[in-house]
Amino acid sequence: MKKGLKYGGIALGVIVVLALIGGFTINYRGIPSYEVNIPDYQLNSTPESIARGKKLTLTLCAGCHRDPETGQLTGAQMKDAPAEFGTIYSQNITQDKEYGIGDWTPGELMYLLRTGIKKDGQYAPPYMAKLPLMADEDIHAIISFLKSDDPIVAAINKPDQPSEVGFLTKLLCNIAWKPFPLPENRIEMPDTTNKVELGKYLAHNLDCYSCHSADFKTNDFLEPTQSAGYFGGGNPTLNLEGEVVPTANLTPHPTGIGDWTEAEFILAVKSGIKQGEPKLRYPMAPYALLTDYEVGAIFAYLQTIPPVENEVERVFEEKEAKMD
Ligand code: HEC
Ligand code: HEC
Repeated sequence: MKKGLKYGGIALGVIVVLALIGGFTINYRGIPSYEVNIPDYQLNSTPESIARGKKLTLTLCAGCHRDPETGQLTGAQMKDAPAEFGTIYSQNITQDKEYGIGDWTPGELMYLLRTGIKKDGQYAPPYMAKLPLMADEDIHAIISFLKSDDPIVAAINKPDQPSEVGFLTKLLCNIAWKPFPLPENRIEMPDTTNKVELGKYLAHNLDCYSCHSADFKTNDFLEPTQSAGYFGGGNPTLNLEGEVVPTANLTPHPTGIGDWTEAEFILAVKSGIKQGEPKLRYPMAPYALLTDYEVGAIFAYLQTIPPVENEVERVFEEKEAKMD
């Protein structure tokens, strides 16, 4: 009995020591770096590609990169990142050569947006968005805009705030999160006259599914439809005060948007307005730049996916419930 305890104690001691060594190694090693293999990449901007890129950048990137101090894309603290991940800042992505992306080539930008690998080889953890499924033309449009002379991306020499990356982020970057492969073939734009096809493209590439499925941890970024609870909601996202705001069920089930009209959906997505209820809250941001046709296409696609039964209650603080 005593002997058993002793051996058990030794085994436990060995496990603890190994775990500590592993922990120190990961903490020291930090976020891993990868080889950078940038293919030939030509940027041929046109006024159309810059305009398209502006809309995509404002819709997809500005939420994280816009700095409340400058009003420009000089970076900000990610207040809604879970505390275990550390204190995270997005970076200056204006055309400043010192702190921004002025010295990044279009190919380096494409490579980061596709794979998550920065030009120095360092991996950008999942709190920086990646676009593994976006059409080549749309990625090209975003880069055209970032490299354009639009005032929103004009160089501002504001230093980046370094993130204090937590142990959990380092651990997951070493054992779970990996860069995405560069797509082997060109990804074509969806047929925009086919509403369901366009809606699927937008629902995946504007990241609707990533918030609106069961949990960020169980999302499948290369095959979004394989994400756990695909569009069934309940993902416990955080607002800027660190409070949980569960995402809504957007499947065609009575507990989702089964009895919504297209007009109600467009109003909610573009303006955050829900009849008889307080406005939709952060991190759901109004998609004001999308056209009614685009949001209608997302609605049409959502009508075709498997219904999920999941009643997500909107919980309000009293102060919020009184507003409106
Ligand atoms: C959810 C928040 C979020 C979104 C959305 C986001 N980013 Fe980022 N971005 C970050 C964070 C955080 C970093 C810093 C990553 C790091 O420290 O590894 C970053 C880093 C970058 C960098 C590297 C800058 C440097 O100097 O190292 C570029 C370029 C960039 N983002 C461009 C974009 C573009 C373009 C988009 C839109 C398609 C975008 N980001 C969307 C949060 C975000
Ligand atoms: C960053 C996470 C996030 C992203 C990205 C996101 N949503 Fe949401 N969405 C939420 C949250 C959280 C709520 C619940 C807000 C509340 O309860 O106030 C919500 C609510 C909604 C609602 C209201 C549904 C209801 O039953 O109340 C609709 C409609 C919606 N989102 C559509 C979309 C569409 C379409 C997209 C993509 C274009 C999208 N969302 C992207 C987080 C997100």
